[in-house]
Amino acid sequence: MITKVHGKHGDAAIEAKGIIKRFKSGRGYVEVLKNVDFDARHGDLTMVMGPSGSGKSTLIAALSGLLRPDEGTVAALDQPNLWKLSSGKIDKFRLDHCGFIFQGFNLFPSLSALQQVTTVLKYQGLTPDAAKARAKLALEEVGLGHRLHQRPAALSGGEKQRVAIARALAKDPQILFADEPTSALDGENGQVVIRLLRRAATEHGAAVICVTHDPRLEAWADRVIHIEDGVIIDDQRRSPDPEALLNSALAPH
Ligand SMILES: Nc1ncnc2c1ncn2[C@@H]1O[C@H](COP(=O)(O)OP(=O)(O)O)[C@@H](O)[C@H]1O
Ligand SMILES: [Mg+2]
Repeated sequence: MITKVHGKHGDAAIEAKGIIKRFKSGRGYVEVLKNVDFDARHGDLTMVMGPSGSGKSTLIAALSGLLRPDEGTVAALDQPNLWKLSSGKIDKFRLDHCGFIFQGFNLFPSLSALQQVTTVLKYQGLTPDAAKARAKLALEEVGLGHRLHQRPAALSGGEKQRVAIARALAKDPQILFADEPTSALDGENGQVVIRLLRRAATEHGAAVICVTHDPRLEAWADRVIHIEDGVIIDDQRRSPDPEALLNSALAPH
């Protein structure tokens, strides 16, 4: 198990400069990220909002070491330039420090809720017993202590997303990436998910970067960044609604 030094609330967790990403299109290229500067801090729930096709998922991928940008740098935690590392080291960085939550949950169909979470922890070097104990706690934290042995097919959409969140949070990531985490969920389950993201920032000090086009989530954010056509057009710090903060302290039921 790695020993981790968590960043303090307010410290920069990620700082990207001059990110350009192009995709091949016909004979030419389209520029999907156009010289984007981006940063996110520990303890913040940072929302990235923008219409479909504006480059949100591409930005997350470039920030998290999943998709190499054509130009620009990404400093993340103690790495001054993530994309200068070997691909093995980038993978290790992601495994050790980053959690991911996606719209489509990305669970393994044949594994129980408990196994989804323990698998990741074993990869990180925990013993099977330690992984199981930690996974149980993470699933209890998202209100799924009674669903440990169910496979995804037996879980509702909201429960599946909570398993994915438990899997992401079990390793206590310093950076949590969520890409449209509520868009496959109804309003009530969406609320549960956003409350858990809020809590990951407030209580665990993670830098939570949440991409969405759901305007209801804005109330929970410390910062709202708007992106359009590969360009950041607006970046506002705000105070989360007091009620949102209060609710995030409650159990997710
Ligand atoms: N692998 C790819 N190859 C070619 N074009 C892509 C690829 N991924 C995304 N795009 C294009 O880049 C643009 C931004 O996509 P994306 O980042 O997924 O937007 P968003 O997440 O905001 O909906 C879109 O026009 C999309 O079609
Ligand atoms: Mg997307």
